[in-house]
Amino acid sequence: MNPLSAPFPAARFRRLRSQPALRDLVRENTLTPADFIWPVFVRDGEGVREPISSMPGVMRLSVDEVAKAAVEAQALGIPAICLFPYTDPSLKTEDCAEAWNPENLSNRATREIKAAAPNIAVMTDVALDPYNINGHDGFVEDGVIVNDRTVEALVKQTLSQAEAGADIIGPSDMMDGRIGAMRTALEGAGHHNVTILSYSAKYASGFYGPFRDAVGASGALKGDKKTYQMDPANADEAMRLVERDLREGADMVMVKPGMPYLDICRRVKDSFGVPTFAYQVSGEYAMLQGAAQNGWLDGDKVMLESLMCFKRAGCDGVLTYFAPAAARLLNG
Ligand code: PBG
Repeated sequence: MNPLSAPFPAARFRRLRSQPALRDLVRENTLTPADFIWPVFVRDGEGVREPISSMPGVMRLSVDEVAKAAVEAQALGIPAICLFPYTDPSLKTEDCAEAWNPENLSNRATREIKAAAPNIAVMTDVALDPYNINGHDGFVEDGVIVNDRTVEALVKQTLSQAEAGADIIGPSDMMDGRIGAMRTALEGAGHHNVTILSYSAKYASGFYGPFRDAVGASGALKGDKKTYQMDPANADEAMRLVERDLREGADMVMVKPGMPYLDICRRVKDSFGVPTFAYQVSGEYAMLQGAAQNGWLDGDKVMLESLMCFKRAGCDGVLTYFAPAAARLLNG
């Protein structure tokens, strides 16, 4: 710790807050567009921008529109875009084969983005829920979400995403052993520089509700995800998961949701000193955006404040639906 401050009036903390230049000078953290990963929802069609009612301001975009969004993100200085497919219900099956179809929405969008905006990193989601007839992230056998058979499928999904050109693989499924299996498969296929951002500490949260609408999983989902996602009551367990994933080959780790879990972000950063991200999830977005639209909060202020707080909590960056709006404000 610092030596003790002198007593009042030698120490007046308001001195350094007394004018903008001094505040700028002593600010401990900064927020820039380079801190953001922008999650986008991809759907079929052409020229489609379909609003999502539980996420005001967010749209499902057809592949061509996603490519335009990536060009815009690149111009705004956002380094990465993260893809979540809204899969046609007719393609959802028990065996989830669409997940590793080279022509699935996510893979087509990855290729289009790479062609249109080569300098932006593409992050893809590894989990079976967009393709699963029952909405779960893993295979369901007799009502149980099975681990090891799911990991084999996640590996196939990972390889098809890497083949399509993904730069960052984001396993959001919370199966055990998937990071090691994915890393081994990526190395074996020569994808040495494809990185893994593991959703290491992903909680079974009520804040994912709007996302499940956005990807069309709400209706399909039977039961909850508590046998694979973490209990919101636990913190030590998050440290063990991060440690495990790092040992298995994760390059970066993530805490999810974000705002109610900043204590976890701080502990991860302090304990491991690795690239640490938080996901400000759909429910957090909806909460702030809904209040702003009702005139209960100043939307721009709480958006930037909430994002700065992730930096203060030790995050290197944040996945946020606010990415383009926040980048526009920050760029002035
Ligand atoms: C599922 C997945 C979820 C989110 C990202 N990937 C939802 C869930 O676990 O049910 C949530 C993201 C958000 O709420 O913004 N693999």
